[in-house]
Amino acid sequence: MTPMNNVTTGSGIASHQAATQTALVTGASRGLGATLAEFLAAQGYALVLTARGPEALAEVAAHVRRHGHPVTAIPGDVNDPRHRRALVGAAHGGLNLLINNASDLGPSPLPELAHYPLEALEAVFKTNVCAPLGLIQEALPRLMRGGLIINLSSDAAVGGYPGWGGYGAAKAALDLLTRTLAAELRGRGVGAVSVDPGDMRTQMHERAFPGEDISGRPLPEVTLPFWAWLLGQDPLSVSGERFLAQGDTWTLRLPAQPGRPEALTSRLPASPGRPEALTSRLPASPGRPEALTSPERAQKALREAV
Ligand SMILES: NC(=O)c1ccc[n+]([C@@H]2O[C@H](COP(=O)([O-])OP(=O)(O)OC[C@H]3O[C@@H](n4cnc5c(N)ncnc54)[C@H](OP(=O)(O)O)[C@@H]3O)[C@@H](O)[C@H]2O)c1
Repeated sequence: MTPMNNVTTGSGIASHQAATQTALVTGASRGLGATLAEFLAAQGYALVLTARGPEALAEVAAHVRRHGHPVTAIPGDVNDPRHRRALVGAAHGGLNLLINNASDLGPSPLPELAHYPLEALEAVFKTNVCAPLGLIQEALPRLMRGGLIINLSSDAAVGGYPGWGGYGAAKAALDLLTRTLAAELRGRGVGAVSVDPGDMRTQMHERAFPGEDISGRPLPEVTLPFWAWLLGQDPLSVSGERFLAQGDTWTLRLPAQPGRPEALTSRLPASPGRPEALTSRLPASPGRPEALTSPERAQKALREAV
């Protein structure tokens, strides 16, 4: 039995176990994917990383290798079944974590549905729905009991915002796949969750708001407290849920503890519209997770949350 086989249902995938665990992250060459790669490497995960652009991917891989754990970077398109096979094949001892993070926003500026080019819509669904499911199907034989599938969603999946219909519909479809997979895979001891990371200052966000100043949006590091929390959970206890990384019911599950920032134990103020976007748009205020408004504070909150 390999050390990974010791990771059983109910044990969770806490970071202290991570030295023998393997994670596959798509879209790892920049933005949230690169942040996740760095975070997981720091937790001791062996990594399989992918994105289409080889240079940026190699750069991220070289950077995270300094943590001393194996990193395999395979450039390619997640829409290519042979590439998906190669990615899973690189996880020699099995997979504990599969993160479907790569995504296609679609045309920019975002077209209204009345004029949405259908070929572009097909491409968006292919990358955001079919490719993640294809990778999950490919990975299932290697996903260990106690493993977790994480599919990156968006507030657009529930928002109905003008212009966001193509991308949002694909993310909504991915959410439903995730919830269904959670039910179907429970017996195998594999969990599946959707995560809406919230607004982040990335290339995708720039494309979504062309010509707008997005410098006020937080960097992807703002989500680190959430990832630290999630990876400490028993995958089956969270399976089927949809989380908002920048503040959600997950913060309510943190046990109250002296010294823990109140920010992490209180709910975000409700607001009409897009409550999850609040953390990136509103100034810090009492009761609002101040921890989530800058990478430095996120790092601090991360240390205190785990
Ligand atoms: N940024 C936000 O505000 C925000 C908000 C809500 C949800 N999200 C979600 O969060 C996730 C990460 O977004 P992000 O903002 O970090 O995006 P990003 O900065 O644009 O990064 C996307 C990553 O995916 C890779 N990628 C794209 N298409 C690919 C394909 N077909 N095959 C392989 N790799 C591919 C890109 O590299 P290559 O181009 O080189 O392939 C890059 O590494 C996405 O699922 C997104 O929908 C983001």
